[in-house]
This record gives sequence, structure tokens and C-alpha cells, in this order.
Amino acid sequence: MSDRTKLMAGKTVLVTGGTGGIGRATAEGLARLGARVAVTGRDITRTRAAAAEIAASTANPAVDAFAADLSALAGVRRLAREVLGAYPRLDVVVNNVGGFWARRHVTDDGLEYTLALNHLAPFLLTNLLLGRLTASAPARIVTVSSGAQALGKINFGDLQGERAYSGQRAYNQSKLANVMFTYELARRLAGTGVTATAAHPGVTRTAFGAEDPTAMMRAMTLIARPFMKTPAQGAATVVYLASSPEVEGVTGRYFANRKPKRSSKSSYDTAAAAQLWQASARLTGLPATV
Ligand SMILES: NC(=O)c1ccc[n+]([C@@H]2O[C@H](COP(=O)([O-])OP(=O)(O)OC[C@H]3O[C@@H](n4cnc5c(N)ncnc54)[C@H](OP(=O)(O)O)[C@@H]3O)[C@@H](O)[C@H]2O)c1
Repeated sequence: MSDRTKLMAGKTVLVTGGTGGIGRATAEGLARLGARVAVTGRDITRTRAAAAEIAASTANPAVDAFAADLSALAGVRRLAREVLGAYPRLDVVVNNVGGFWARRHVTDDGLEYTLALNHLAPFLLTNLLLGRLTASAPARIVTVSSGAQALGKINFGDLQGERAYSGQRAYNQSKLANVMFTYELARRLAGTGVTATAAHPGVTRTAFGAEDPTAMMRAMTLIARPFMKTPAQGAATVVYLASSPEVEGVTGRYFANRKPKRSSKSSYDTAAAAQLWQASARLTGLPATV
């Protein structure tokens, strides 16, 4: 296929966390389809090296690197400013960055780390980029959730695990929040030509949870590692949602293995999704009406 006939030729895509794991494989998949791809990571040297490797392995030189610690609201805002400054149009945003922490950590903003990185960062980043996405419509927002959403519960009384923290509960809640955010976003974006979908990548061999795993996770990972998906397999549904004509116009849906799937019952609670949106807007300093 020549460069001009590739599916994503002429499209610009932002993938958060393109330095490793599912994000990197997503960036590779989309670069291979001809997109200009922006990848992010906390360390600019490492991120530039990853961008260069993706460019070389896909024979697509249009891979750009941005440094951003997305656990910090200021980091999210800076990334949004830089992306808006760099790209006059933005066709796809893939909210991929996320992780698991066994113990409760707090960000520089005083927010619980899992909620901040897994949910508030994509919430804020997407909202800050919405104007550009809408102006570039048709455009897509893909948020990487997890099958863990099915076990999630949004604890509005203790959203940040201040009274009682469990890494698994915080993770499940954040991945349910990814889905509820996606559904609420799709409702708010109806008629704009910008779609919002969420993906479960499947259990994938990455550095997931490595910063602060539980003993159980460490043991399970050792045993299950050979049977896990490769990063490219984990990224397949994300790449599909970001690029395939089959899902053009499809919005407000959750996908696994490139197929729409019902998410947890509570993810369809529209009142809870609106309440979560308002709480997220308050915590990130956005007006609730955005
Ligand atoms: N792996 C699985 O089995 C699995 C299953 C279901 C869902 N998921 C979801 O898939 C997504 C990607 O997970 P993964 O397994 O690919 O994880 P990973 O291998 O740990 O990759 C994480 C990526 O996020 C970046 N990152 C981490 N902390 C960051 C921060 N504070 N600010 C900015 N970037 C940060 C890392 O970049 P730097 O280290 O270079 O900063 C790296 O590029 C997550 O949302 C996860 O919940 C994963």
C-alpha cells in the first residue's frame, strides 16, 4: 500500500503513554497505517528514543514525542497546550496511560494517584482538546479501560480512598470511571461528529502494575505471563477503534476483541455518570458545563 492510500494517511493521532506496553503498540499500529502519531512519556529522552524506534520500525517518520507526567494536572494542561500548538488538526486521541498501585499514593495536587492518572488525566486532557477535535470532525476519542470495570463501584462518599484504600478497588473504580466518562462524553458530543469509545485490551504482557504491585499480582504475573497477550495483540482493539471504517460514527460503546460488549450494569447509570462528570470537573478545575 502506498503512503497516500494508507487508512490513516493525513490523520493526526495523540496516544498517551507511547513509550511502552499497549500505548506503544497502539502508536506502532497507527503509524503503520500512515498516521502522524504523537506519543508521550514522563522522560523526554526516553520518549524521543521510543518515537524514533516507532518511526524506524514502521517506516513512518511522522512520530513526535511529548514529555508529560499525567499524574499532575499541570502536566496534563501543559501537554494539551503543546499538542494544540503543534497540530492545527487532531483526528484521534487515545487515552491509554493508566496503572495500578497496591498502596495509596498522592499526587503533587494532593489527589489519590490511581484516580488522578487513570481517570482525571484523560478527563481533563480530552476536555482541553475537545475544541480541536470538534473542529477536525469526524474525530475519535478512544479510552483504554479494562475488564476490571465490571468489578468497579464509584464510591462517591470516598472517591479517593481516604477512609479505606485498596489498590484493586481503586483500579476497578478508575476503569469503570473510564467507561462512564466515555458514555457521558458520547451523550455530550452527540451530533458533533466526534465519537467516544472505550476498550478492554485483554490481559497483556507489559510493565503494568510494576511500580507498586501486590504480592498476589507478582505471583499471578509470573505464572500467567506466558499466556498473556503480546502488546500488539492487546493494542488490536484500540487500533481498530482509532482507525477502522467499520466503527466510523460508532459512539458510546465499550469494546473487547474488536467487538462491542456490554459493560457493567452501573456503567449505564446516567445520573451517576453526570455526578462523576461534575466531581471530576471540580477536582480538575474545569467548569462542570464543558
Ligand atoms: N496490561 C494489561 O493486562 C491491561 C489490561 C487491561 C487494561 N489495561 C490498561 O491499558 C493501559 C496501558 O497499560 P499497559 O499495560 O500498557 O501499562 P504499562 O506497560 O505500565 O505502560 C504505561 C505507559 O504509561 C506511561 N505512564 C506511566 N505513568 C505515567 C505518568 N504518571 N504520566 C505519564 N505517563 C505515564 C508510561 O510511560 P513512561 O514510563 O515512559 O512515563 C508507559 O508509556 C492502562 O490504562 C491499563 O489500565 C492494561
